Amino acid sequence: MLITLEGIDGSGKTTVASALARSLQDINPVLTREPGTNWVGDQVRRAIAEEIDPVAEALLFAADHAVHLATVIRPALDAGHLVISDRYTDSRYAYQSVTLKGRLQDPLAWLQALHAGWTVPPDLTILFVLPVEEAMARKGEGRREHFEQEQTLSQVQQQYLAFAEAEPFRFVIVDSRLPLSAITLLVEGVIRDFSKVQRSRHRR
Ligand code: TMP
Repeated sequence: MLITLEGIDGSGKTTVASALARSLQDINPVLTREPGTNWVGDQVRRAIAEEIDPVAEALLFAADHAVHLATVIRPALDAGHLVISDRYTDSRYAYQSVTLKGRLQDPLAWLQALHAGWTVPPDLTILFVLPVEEAMARKGEGRREHFEQEQTLSQVQQQYLAFAEAEPFRFVIVDSRLPLSAITLLVEGVIRDFSKVQRSRHRR
């Protein structure tokens, strides 16, 4: 079973992912992330820092996803693990459909076609939502990635919310303004309930 954590920069999903690693220890999930921790992921981070051409950047993110699937996601799913990924395909669909606006006629359709036939769709996606100004304030005044602009993040969040509206059975929306302990409990409960339902469905 594949569960993904999504949301704009500053939405707190990475902090929740670390808390879940502890609270879900008994079911031994595989916790992973995109961009990945291999050399392709390193190149993605370099591409973000150097603000390369947005098409090239999107292709690098997709390459990182392919490596992530081959080396982490598929082997873990095949071994029967619960897999939780901090960012996944929806990050591309949300962020790159904004960065490619004006460059391609229909960025989302292009991105979906790019993934068609080889990606593994998530079973459940937890979407962390908060006002963009708050997300920006959490990020502080330090050096910002080119995505971390109010207008970009606001459009990215709108994309995410549109995906959730289009697929209400896949998405659970979490208010990131809640205290971390409450969010962790809530997400942990959702994951445990969901995996129970999935297991009983498979048994039938
Ligand atoms: P991170 O902050 O979660 O490590 O992600 C790095 C940045 O890359 C973040 O601003 C979101 C962005 N991103 C994309 O634009 N597309 C993607 O497919 C992924 C995985 C991340």
